[in-house]
Amino acid sequence: KTAAIVGCPFSGGQPRAGVDTGPIHLVEAGLADQLKGLGWKVEFGGHHQFEEIHVDQDPPAGIVKRPRLVSQVTKEVAQTVGAHIKAGRLPVTLGGDHSLAVGTVSGTLDVFPDACLIWIDAHADINTIASTGSGNLHGMPVSFLLGLNTPEEIRNLKNPNISSENGDDSAPFEWVVPRLSSDRLVYIGLRDVDDGEKKILKDNNILAFSMHHVDKWGIAGVMERALNHVCPNRDRPIHLSFDVDALDPTVAPSTGTPVRGGLTFREGHYICEEVYETGCLVALDIMEVNPSLEDVISVNQTVAVGCSLTRCAMGETLL
Ligand code: ARG
Ligand code: MN
Ligand code: MN
Ligand code: MN
Repeated sequence: KTAAIVGCPFSGGQPRAGVDTGPIHLVEAGLADQLKGLGWKVEFGGHHQFEEIHVDQDPPAGIVKRPRLVSQVTKEVAQTVGAHIKAGRLPVTLGGDHSLAVGTVSGTLDVFPDACLIWIDAHADINTIASTGSGNLHGMPVSFLLGLNTPEEIRNLKNPNISSENGDDSAPFEWVVPRLSSDRLVYIGLRDVDDGEKKILKDNNILAFSMHHVDKWGIAGVMERALNHVCPNRDRPIHLSFDVDALDPTVAPSTGTPVRGGLTFREGHYICEEVYETGCLVALDIMEVNPSLEDVISVNQTVAVGCSLTRCAMGETLL
């Protein structure tokens, strides 16, 4: 068994600087050696070097910010993640902001079109081009994966006054093949969902467990229901996308959009342990660690929890 660490120092899907150094901190904390300690071969060829697109060349499309940059970066990530999976490796993508998941999940679905997606987050990140209030693409990745934006809306992300150097006439995110179906997606940890997103979740009949459900059924009850829904026979490939802001801010303080009332330390790790136990995990994302927010103690705590979640998803047990 071989894992590939895909370091993605990228912050273009949201406004706060610093989240791009998340992967650097996670690797410096010794994540590769920790996974080796669990019996994995670990491949890490350095962090991704994304080519910058200057802001002048990437004006907002309506309210949507940095469409060209985020599209280009996530397209590269999709290719990288897909190639690792094809080669039999388990990609562990370290963010960076959650817009990266347009790439990671696309890469997984390229290889395993029947894969399911378990999204752990305080937020649903399912805003569409039409519904987003912030224009931040880290709040929108799921809408692209599900194909909730019309071809026209996507076409309109292209600025007619800006031509790309390589003669590529495509619009941002036109490369995304929306292969995810709404019944193969499940959310856990939600507690800050926009009104427009609530409607999208309902209209598309998407199963979502908020913190209310975690209170009600406990994390074990929620995980059982979640897995029975997306992976009933425990035989579908699982992509686990974990935004650390799903955890309570007392557990993971250094993140861009913290929300009170989140998962405890153990609840977060239990999710990862249960996913590992299915034997179906094919790709993992650890997203939104921002080491420039809060004090040193908080940063170390958040980086450490990013590492321990990863270890639990990859086989670490308490006994
Ligand atoms: N729903 C809000 C938005 O669309 C917040 C999204 C936060 N996303 C995240 N990946 N932390 O902007
Ligand atoms: Mn979030
Ligand atoms: Mn997120
Ligand atoms: Mn178990």
